[in-house]
Amino acid sequence: MTGAREDDPRLGEIVVGADEIRRRVVELGAEITRDYADRTPLLVGILKGAFVFMADLARSIDRPVEVDFMAVSSYGSSTRTSGVVRILKDLDVDLGGRDVILIEDIADSGLTLRYLRRSLMARQPASVEICCLLVREGVPDLQDLVRYQGFPVPPGWVVGYGLDVGERYRHLDDIVAYKTHEDAGSGSVAG
Ligand code: IMP
Ligand code: MG
Repeated sequence: MTGAREDDPRLGEIVVGADEIRRRVVELGAEITRDYADRTPLLVGILKGAFVFMADLARSIDRPVEVDFMAVSSYGSSTRTSGVVRILKDLDVDLGGRDVILIEDIADSGLTLRYLRRSLMARQPASVEICCLLVREGVPDLQDLVRYQGFPVPPGWVVGYGLDVGERYRHLDDIVAYKTHEDAGSGSVAG
Protein backbone atom coordinates (compact mmCIF):
# COMPACT_ATOMS: atom_id res chain seq x y z
CA MET A 1 0.00 0.00 0.00
CA THR A 2 1.37 3.39 -0.97
CA GLY A 3 2.46 5.45 1.98
CA ALA A 4 2.09 2.54 4.37
CA ARG A 5 4.54 2.47 7.23
CA GLU A 6 7.81 0.86 6.42
CA ASP A 7 8.89 -2.28 8.21
CA ASP A 8 11.45 -0.34 10.13
CA PRO A 9 12.49 -0.90 13.77
CA ARG A 10 12.93 2.85 14.14
CA LEU A 11 9.21 3.43 13.76
CA GLY A 12 7.10 3.14 16.91
CA GLU A 13 3.39 3.45 17.61
CA ILE A 14 0.96 5.45 15.51
CA VAL A 15 0.49 8.81 17.20
CA VAL A 16 -2.21 10.10 14.84
CA GLY A 17 -3.71 7.70 12.30
CA ALA A 18 -4.55 8.53 8.70
CA ASP A 19 -8.35 8.37 9.24
CA GLU A 20 -8.16 10.71 12.19
CA ILE A 21 -5.98 13.12 10.20
CA ARG A 22 -8.42 13.07 7.29
CA ARG A 23 -11.37 13.90 9.54
CA ARG A 24 -9.57 16.70 11.35
CA VAL A 25 -8.31 18.28 8.13
CA VAL A 26 -11.90 18.42 6.86
CA GLU A 27 -12.95 20.14 10.12
CA LEU A 28 -10.14 22.67 9.87
CA GLY A 29 -11.06 23.36 6.26
CA ALA A 30 -14.68 23.98 7.26
CA GLU A 31 -13.59 26.33 10.02
CA ILE A 32 -11.38 28.33 7.64
CA THR A 33 -14.17 28.37 5.05
CA ARG A 34 -16.48 29.99 7.62
CA ASP A 35 -13.89 32.43 8.96
CA TYR A 36 -12.84 33.64 5.49
CA ALA A 37 -16.32 33.66 3.96
CA ASP A 38 -15.80 36.98 2.16
CA ARG A 39 -12.04 36.75 1.54
CA THR A 40 -9.50 34.90 -0.58
CA PRO A 41 -6.86 33.68 1.86
CA LEU A 42 -3.27 33.19 0.81
CA LEU A 43 -2.02 29.89 2.21
CA VAL A 44 1.70 30.12 2.91
CA GLY A 45 3.21 26.68 3.38
CA ILE A 46 6.48 26.23 5.23
CA LEU A 47 8.61 23.79 3.28
CA LYS A 48 9.11 21.04 3.39
CA GLY A 49 7.16 19.56 6.29
CA ALA A 50 3.83 21.25 5.53
CA PHE A 51 3.50 20.08 1.93
CA VAL A 52 1.25 17.06 2.55
CA PHE A 53 -0.98 18.79 5.11
CA MET A 54 -1.30 21.89 2.95
CA ALA A 55 -2.30 19.89 -0.12
CA ASP A 56 -5.13 18.24 1.80
CA LEU A 57 -6.15 21.37 3.69
CA ALA A 58 -6.32 23.53 0.56
CA ARG A 59 -8.78 21.05 -0.94
CA SER A 60 -10.89 21.08 2.23
CA ILE A 61 -11.46 24.83 2.02
CA ASP A 62 -14.59 25.69 0.08
CA ARG A 63 -13.35 29.13 -0.99
CA PRO A 64 -11.01 30.45 -3.61
CA VAL A 65 -7.52 30.22 -2.10
CA GLU A 66 -4.07 31.04 -3.37
CA VAL A 67 -0.89 29.26 -2.30
CA ASP A 68 2.73 30.19 -1.91
CA PHE A 69 5.67 28.69 -0.05
CA MET A 70 8.60 29.65 2.08
CA ALA A 71 11.59 27.60 3.13
CA VAL A 72 13.40 28.39 6.35
CA SER A 73 16.13 26.91 8.46
CA SER A 74 16.77 27.47 12.13
CA TYR A 75 20.18 28.60 13.18
CA GLY A 76 22.23 26.22 15.31
CA SER A 77 21.04 25.24 18.75
CA SER A 78 23.08 27.93 20.49
CA THR A 79 21.20 30.73 18.74
CA ARG A 80 17.89 28.93 18.49
CA THR A 81 16.57 30.50 21.66
CA SER A 82 16.76 33.90 19.97
CA GLY A 83 14.09 32.73 17.54
CA VAL A 84 16.18 33.70 14.55
CA VAL A 85 15.55 31.71 11.40
CA ARG A 86 17.11 32.06 8.00
CA ILE A 87 14.77 32.45 5.03
CA LEU A 88 16.06 30.09 2.33
CA LYS A 89 13.19 30.69 -0.10
CA ASP A 90 11.00 33.74 0.15
CA LEU A 91 7.48 34.32 -1.15
CA ASP A 92 6.79 35.12 -4.78
CA VAL A 93 3.70 37.22 -4.09
CA ASP A 94 3.29 40.65 -2.52
CA LEU A 95 1.54 40.42 0.85
CA GLY A 96 0.11 43.96 0.81
CA GLY A 97 -3.54 43.75 1.90
CA ARG A 98 -3.60 39.94 1.81
CA ASP A 99 -5.18 37.61 4.38
CA VAL A 100 -2.34 35.21 5.09
CA ILE A 101 -2.62 31.82 6.74
CA LEU A 102 0.76 30.33 7.62
CA ILE A 103 0.60 26.55 7.29
CA GLU A 104 3.09 24.50 9.31
CA ASP A 105 3.52 20.84 10.16
CA ILE A 106 4.31 21.24 13.86
CA ALA A 107 4.72 24.00 16.42
CA ASP A 108 7.40 22.67 18.73
CA SER A 109 8.92 25.62 20.59
CA GLY A 110 7.00 28.04 18.37
CA LEU A 111 10.13 30.06 17.62
CA THR A 112 10.02 29.51 13.86
CA LEU A 113 6.39 30.60 13.66
CA ARG A 114 6.90 33.60 15.89
CA TYR A 115 9.77 34.78 13.72
CA LEU A 116 7.87 34.20 10.49
CA ARG A 117 4.77 35.96 11.71
CA ARG A 118 6.83 39.00 12.68
CA SER A 119 8.58 38.97 9.34
CA LEU A 120 5.32 38.68 7.36
CA MET A 121 3.51 41.30 9.45
CA ALA A 122 6.15 43.82 8.39
CA ARG A 123 4.95 43.46 4.78
CA GLN A 124 1.58 45.12 5.45
CA PRO A 125 -0.81 42.18 5.03
CA ALA A 126 -4.44 42.62 6.11
CA SER A 127 -4.06 39.69 8.55
CA VAL A 128 -1.80 36.79 9.47
CA GLU A 129 -3.09 33.64 11.18
CA ILE A 130 -1.32 30.37 11.88
CA CYS A 131 -2.53 26.84 11.17
CA CYS A 132 -0.54 23.82 12.43
CA LEU A 133 -1.30 20.17 12.05
CA LEU A 134 0.47 19.37 15.33
CA VAL A 135 1.03 21.48 18.42
CA ARG A 136 3.43 20.31 21.11
CA GLU A 137 1.75 19.82 24.48
CA GLY A 138 2.94 21.74 27.51
CA VAL A 139 4.74 24.54 25.66
CA PRO A 140 3.71 27.93 27.04
CA ASP A 141 1.85 30.34 24.75
CA LEU A 142 1.44 28.00 21.76
CA GLN A 143 -2.32 28.00 22.35
CA ASP A 144 -2.45 31.75 21.71
CA LEU A 145 0.00 31.62 18.83
CA VAL A 146 -1.69 28.94 16.73
CA ARG A 147 -5.23 29.85 15.71
CA TYR A 148 -6.03 26.60 13.85
CA GLN A 149 -4.70 23.46 15.53
CA GLY A 150 -4.92 19.90 14.30
CA PHE A 151 -3.78 17.76 17.19
CA PRO A 152 -1.81 18.16 20.41
CA VAL A 153 1.22 15.87 20.55
CA PRO A 154 3.34 14.88 23.55
CA PRO A 155 7.11 15.37 23.54
CA GLY A 156 9.00 12.97 21.29
CA TRP A 157 9.96 13.03 17.62
CA VAL A 158 7.23 12.09 15.15
CA VAL A 159 7.43 11.37 11.42
CA GLY A 160 5.04 10.86 8.52
CA TYR A 161 2.40 12.91 6.68
CA GLY A 162 5.11 15.38 5.67
CA LEU A 163 7.27 15.19 8.78
CA ASP A 164 10.73 13.70 8.45
CA VAL A 165 13.91 12.70 10.10
CA GLY A 166 16.84 13.27 7.76
CA GLU A 167 14.41 13.61 4.80
CA ARG A 168 12.89 10.15 5.39
CA TYR A 169 9.34 9.03 6.18
CA ARG A 170 7.53 12.08 4.78
CA HIS A 171 5.32 9.86 2.62
CA LEU A 172 3.79 7.81 5.46
CA ASP A 173 -0.01 8.08 5.75
CA ASP A 174 0.07 8.01 9.55
CA ILE A 175 2.00 10.15 12.01
CA VAL A 176 4.27 7.73 13.82
CA ALA A 177 6.66 7.93 16.77
CA TYR A 178 10.29 7.82 15.75
CA LYS A 179 12.50 5.91 18.14
CA THR A 180 15.70 7.59 19.13
CA HIS A 181 18.83 5.52 19.43
CA GLU A 182 18.08 4.91 23.11
CA ASP A 183 14.51 3.77 22.48
CA ALA A 184 15.56 1.46 19.67
CA GLY A 185 18.30 -0.09 21.80
CA SER A 186 15.99 -0.86 24.71
CA GLY A 187 14.81 -4.12 23.18
CA SER A 188 11.12 -3.48 22.48
CA VAL A 189 10.16 -2.84 18.91
CA ALA A 190 6.52 -3.76 19.41
CA GLY A 191 3.73 -1.73 17.82
P1 IMP B 1 10.04 25.28 16.45
O1 IMP B 1 10.61 26.53 15.88
O2 IMP B 1 10.79 24.82 17.68
O3 IMP B 1 8.56 25.37 16.71
O4 IMP B 1 10.35 24.15 15.40
C1 IMP B 1 9.44 23.76 14.46
C2 IMP B 1 10.10 22.91 13.39
O5 IMP B 1 10.90 21.87 13.97
C3 IMP B 1 9.06 22.22 12.56
O6 IMP B 1 8.76 22.97 11.43
C4 IMP B 1 9.74 20.93 12.18
O7 IMP B 1 10.47 21.11 10.99
C5 IMP B 1 10.71 20.65 13.28
N1 IMP B 1 10.19 19.63 14.22
C6 IMP B 1 9.95 19.79 15.53
N2 IMP B 1 9.51 18.66 16.10
C7 IMP B 1 9.45 17.74 15.10
C8 IMP B 1 9.06 16.34 15.06
O8 IMP B 1 8.66 15.70 16.05
N3 IMP B 1 9.14 15.74 13.84
C9 IMP B 1 9.55 16.39 12.71
N4 IMP B 1 9.91 17.69 12.72
C10 IMP B 1 9.87 18.36 13.89
MG1 MG C 1 9.47 22.45 9.46
